[in-house]
Amino acid sequence: LFSDFLFRHIFHKGTALMPISYRVADLKITGAHLVTPWGLVKGDLAVAEGKMIAFGDTASRLPADVTHDATGLHVLPGIIDSQVHFREPGLEYKEDLATGTLGALAGGVTTIFEMPNTKPSTTTAESMAHKMSLAKDRCWSHYAFYMGAADDNLTQLAELEMLEGVCGVKLFMGASTGSLLVPSDEGLELAMRHGRRRMALHAEDNYRLSQRRKLVDVYGAGPALHPHWRDELSCLYATQRVLALAEKTGRAVHVLHVTTAEEMVLLGQNKHLATVEVTPQHLTLAAPHCYEHLGTLAQMNPPIREERHRDALWWAIQQGIVDVLGSDHAPHTLEEKALPYPKSPSGMPGVQTMLPLMLNHVHEERLSLERLVDLLCHGPQRVFQLKNKGRLALGYDADLTLVDLNAKRTITREWIKTKSGWSPFEGMHVTGWPKAVYLKGKLAMQDDEIIGQPQGQPCRFWDVPQQR
Ligand code: DOR
Repeated sequence: LFSDFLFRHIFHKGTALMPISYRVADLKITGAHLVTPWGLVKGDLAVAEGKMIAFGDTASRLPADVTHDATGLHVLPGIIDSQVHFREPGLEYKEDLATGTLGALAGGVTTIFEMPNTKPSTTTAESMAHKMSLAKDRCWSHYAFYMGAADDNLTQLAELEMLEGVCGVKLFMGASTGSLLVPSDEGLELAMRHGRRRMALHAEDNYRLSQRRKLVDVYGAGPALHPHWRDELSCLYATQRVLALAEKTGRAVHVLHVTTAEEMVLLGQNKHLATVEVTPQHLTLAAPHCYEHLGTLAQMNPPIREERHRDALWWAIQQGIVDVLGSDHAPHTLEEKALPYPKSPSGMPGVQTMLPLMLNHVHEERLSLERLVDLLCHGPQRVFQLKNKGRLALGYDADLTLVDLNAKRTITREWIKTKSGWSPFEGMHVTGWPKAVYLKGKLAMQDDEIIGQPQGQPCRFWDVPQQR
């Protein structure tokens, strides 16, 4: 009865609630399970002008230009990867905005937030405008970019974080790939006092990292030493400093790729100060096996650690401490990765494998599909104040990721579309696979085939009021 009311009064006649009345949808997805914010719902979904316009019976009754029979599939809000490194400008031989977003799309990811440690780093209005111009008409997924915090822009961050296309500020407390680094509490506090949006942090304490570097600057050191050089305390000290300064300044913060049990306990006690990210690789791999099997391919910052930490990350997911998953897609070529440790660069690709890996974890009952959607869609929306994405809800952008929870596949190098061309998960058998992707109602990927032209557009955010 309620849907009859909607159908007659809103969709046929048009009211103040829904100014446009749709008599025909552009697209109707039928027969699937929809993962809505209020739970799993079996029913149809109708789309017009790039937005979701109706669910359930109301959608079923609307005629549509195109019908996609998705029987047996689950429709998720488009997957959001809120941490990737795509290397353009300056290091395009590893990855560029086109190849990175192509991999994203192939892996079911509809939106990416890209990091500032390019060459030059993205730390000025000019470099951000340049990146936006490079992205225009070349991205296969929607996009936003982090503004890098650097010693010479800390007092300008309040203006810089409000520029078009910016999802927030990223600050490296510990040196990693590239030259971005703000190691001191003074620098950190200055950054926190200049701006309002949630600030994303790479929390490794650079003083401790420098002190301990001698551990790996010895003949015969191997990547298994990586988590000992960049140890638990390097992370814990940095996260403690972030939380203390967040409390002191009142600034909202987001701690990226948390890797230790001790930080998770602390972050769980301070949910009023910080949101939390973990990566699929820290949830999937563990030391020392990963270094024995993958060598430097498993080397990243902060490092993959022992099982005790991996268990704690799962515990933190189950307890609701973790807000988002990000892939930290950090491509380097196989030649670079083959350099002897510690000359080998840190980082691994992951934007294309994030969803299949996590669907496999759903299959193995480590988390529910609903919790996965919370981490990959609602979480980024909430943490970054993203407009109109991250939920199946009326009026939201029709970015949709259709998945087959029962598909059995193997991750192969041939399937990888990102430029570095490899994955640490090659050869892994997974159950669960992205079957199709819609970007604002347009089919962009189906059965591993990329369709049409790049359709990605910049994201908009609630905390940038001039954006409509
Ligand atoms: O391992 C990493 N690689 N960690 C980072 O923080 C940066 C990334 C990269 O850009 O290569």
